[in-house]
Amino acid sequence: MKNITVIGTGYVGLVSGAGISDFGHAVSCVDIDESKIASLKNGDIPIYEQGLESLVKRNVVAKRLSFSSDVPNAIEAADVVFIAVGTPQDENGNADISAVLKVAETIGLSLNGYKVICTKSTVPIGTGRKVIEAIKENSDASVSFDYVSNPEFLREGAAVRDFTHPDRVVIGAESQKAFDFMKDVYHPLYVNETPVIHTNIETAEMIKYASNAFLALKISYINEIANVCEEVGADVFKVAQAMGLDGRISPKFLHPGPGYGGSCFPKDTKALASQAEAAGVPLKTIQGAIDANSHQHSRMVDKLRILLDGSFEGKTIAVLGLSFKPGTDDVRESPSISMITALLNESASVQAYDPVSNENMTKFFSNISYKNSVYDAVKDADAAVIMTDWNEFRSMDIPRIKSLMKTPIFLDTRNILNTSELEDTGIVYDNVGRKRRTDS
Ligand code: UDX
Repeated sequence: MKNITVIGTGYVGLVSGAGISDFGHAVSCVDIDESKIASLKNGDIPIYEQGLESLVKRNVVAKRLSFSSDVPNAIEAADVVFIAVGTPQDENGNADISAVLKVAETIGLSLNGYKVICTKSTVPIGTGRKVIEAIKENSDASVSFDYVSNPEFLREGAAVRDFTHPDRVVIGAESQKAFDFMKDVYHPLYVNETPVIHTNIETAEMIKYASNAFLALKISYINEIANVCEEVGADVFKVAQAMGLDGRISPKFLHPGPGYGGSCFPKDTKALASQAEAAGVPLKTIQGAIDANSHQHSRMVDKLRILLDGSFEGKTIAVLGLSFKPGTDDVRESPSISMITALLNESASVQAYDPVSNENMTKFFSNISYKNSVYDAVKDADAAVIMTDWNEFRSMDIPRIKSLMKTPIFLDTRNILNTSELEDTGIVYDNVGRKRRTDS
């Protein structure tokens, strides 16, 4: 059993801290945001993530998990310190690592004996060396530490399961002692024979970026194939299905849609492309994926405009789904944002509904009408657009929707509706890469 301190109680820090406490370690999750810590102590979980609340509760009751805003004290008590603070995107597309370096300074100042300092935040390659320097500059030379890069691969909506059942654990550690500490932290995963990849620091940092950028590339690829399918009369559903049966390709991340969003893919692809460019080895494939993604967002707007005979002016549009994907209330970089922005810019009014994200979207748009159900959202609408593949939208009562709408026009950017049913109900519809019906 180790004493662990996790600095940063955002998405990554909270899930990782709770997950590590569930592995049997004593974990202190700390944050300089005192109000956040106060609500966590109260049992309030600031994010919507399946399974997180019960995971936290279970480990708090077992006294393995605690919360504190006394960062220096928590560092002093720890064998392993995880850095899990944010690395937002700056105006040039680079990751801003100032919060990581500030934490490194605090760690240096609080270093009272050997510890493993481990970064979980997604950071540009080379950040580990800067963290080591910042700790050294602020600590007593007689106290030793090791640095480890241990990137996370948590999907929002499935983060708890991803933490406890990962496909692999990456440990960028350059001393055997540090590697052994990390093996101890992840002991239950060792027992389950989860593959552990032991690398140097830079390789671990690169694995995270290369993995996320590859998935983003895969999505942009199938989106572009879908767009071509529309022009040549092919069905992307079947294309993706058949491609996915090739073991070398795999069926995952081959679902065409309105373009990826969220807190990771948009930021990580840009950060990697920007770092590669600066290093003199531009990543043309990743730059292509980024461009294709932004084109895909605007292509959805164009599709809807075409369905409405070329203009949104004075029209009422039902936007179904606001989060960037189902299972989360996160709306960051959601394709629904570019859709709503275009609709408002072109003088449409928006009636939006999301099962869990209405409130979060009010931070972006206060001038749209938020509804409590699909049926309220489509009432008197000139068209409806599905932006998120929530299961609830798969089982909508299509005839009822048709009777509520002013004109029965649907854009299904997630390809979740049954095209035969739409056809039979007399709905004008379009989707991504499949058969469409654009005249009434
Ligand atoms: C991602 C990575 O999957 C995770 O490993 C990483 O550490 C954090 O970033 P996340 O952003 O939570 O996780 O979502 P993910 O499920 O990967 O989806 C990202 C975006 O791609 C969403 O907008 C989703 O709708 C879109 N997507 C995904 C598609 O459009 N098609 C697909 O086939 C898969």
